[in-house]
Amino acid sequence: MHAARFDGSFGGWRSEARRLLQAGVPPHAVNWQAGKDDGNLFASLVPEPVQASSPPALLIPRELPELLENAARFRAEDRWALLYRILWRVSQGDRAAMLAGDSDGSVLQRRLKSVYREAHHMHAFLRFRQRPAEAGAPAFVAWHEPAHDILEIAVEHFAERLGRATWLIATPDAAALWDGSQMRILRPCPIELRELARGAEDPGAELWLAYYGATFNPARLNRDVLESNMPVRFWKDLPEGPLIPQLMSQARAGQQRLAQTASVGERAGKEVLIASDRAQPQRAPSTSLEDCRGCDIWRGATCVVPGEGPHDARIMLVGEQPGDQEDLAGRPFIGPAGQVLQRALAEAELPRERVYLTNAVKHFKWLPRGGPNSRAATRLHATPKPGEIKACRRWLGEELEQVAPQVVVALGKTALAALLQTYEPQRLRLADFAEPFRHEEHWLVVAPHPAAVLRAGDGGEQRFDELVAALTRARQLAPAAG
Ligand code: URA
Repeated sequence: MHAARFDGSFGGWRSEARRLLQAGVPPHAVNWQAGKDDGNLFASLVPEPVQASSPPALLIPRELPELLENAARFRAEDRWALLYRILWRVSQGDRAAMLAGDSDGSVLQRRLKSVYREAHHMHAFLRFRQRPAEAGAPAFVAWHEPAHDILEIAVEHFAERLGRATWLIATPDAAALWDGSQMRILRPCPIELRELARGAEDPGAELWLAYYGATFNPARLNRDVLESNMPVRFWKDLPEGPLIPQLMSQARAGQQRLAQTASVGERAGKEVLIASDRAQPQRAPSTSLEDCRGCDIWRGATCVVPGEGPHDARIMLVGEQPGDQEDLAGRPFIGPAGQVLQRALAEAELPRERVYLTNAVKHFKWLPRGGPNSRAATRLHATPKPGEIKACRRWLGEELEQVAPQVVVALGKTALAALLQTYEPQRLRLADFAEPFRHEEHWLVVAPHPAAVLRAGDGGEQRFDELVAALTRARQLAPAAG
């Protein structure tokens, strides 16, 4: 067995293969060792063929070298052995070795197909991020993780389309740098280029996400087709990647309205394009709750969940935000927490139909659980941030004005923070509000949130009793409600 050592490049393999071929070494007698350098790189154990004059030219079809070079981009242990076997057979006159009907030829053709497809993936799923201008540094950078060594054949595409703009594409193994007129391929990828590409922020991401979310058409969603056209492995490097499981889960729920909404047009362009504006985006006030875009929670929600109950109710209960089931039904407190509340209301002898039920935040905020690979992704409740509670406060204010309750029950800290307009639920301790107190035009009673009863485990019973006690107290403070 001959150990054929070379540097792992196609050029290195080609020189070695030519030498072996001229020495008449058959494929089964060669052990290819790519990138092995024991101080004697390229020194195969095969003696140099004794040549009287120049070596005989290899008789191979004109297209074969390019096919072999591209097939060599397919990452597989046996890639060099396969190429040599095919080269050997073709040079012996057996051209079938290149064709799909042959055992080697079919592997060759399949690998070529995968390589071209992977280059297409790079064209389709690579996202450049613009960097602040800096002398000598590329204006656009992208990170991409191809499954095969396709960088060299894929990057021309970008050079042709991006004109004189300078850019960097970094991958785990190699980098391509375009200075506006010339391409440099660096293999391996220098660590600083890798960091530059991976660490880049995208100032336009928010606008792009708004556009993507608004044009995603759930009616067309076929998860298998989506994943075969846009493999999951690329999602993490796409700005829209984290949005996809969320949009898919909404589509599964069959509830998202078809998405060419006014949402993109409604966004203030400056808000997303000027970095200094990003901390405190200016948003045009929404004219109706249904169309509220006061914060970003609406993006993931199926619908808005307004309060429900008689508009002359004497008691108003305020929760945190709708949950998964409320989001699908458009009604507050109908899921598991709603059932706990229902039981507590019954024990407090307070009929649900007599109270007005609402939430501090009117859209369901959630995160996908299970990650993009999980087919059974579920929507995990996420706590609204102070800014989101604040952005939604105007709707609660309108409800308080309209219903003018005698007693308001804050179910949990988010509701309390919204009612007190402190917007910092984490600073509040429910125990500090054990007694009802006058607040604005009503009594304020503070109770544990029904979901806390569910979460409390062994302490659930005590929490439930506290909830019932608070509701009973509310009934007593507004006698006509019972
Ligand atoms: N939790 C809430 O706070 N509100 C609901 O509507 C449902 C669950």
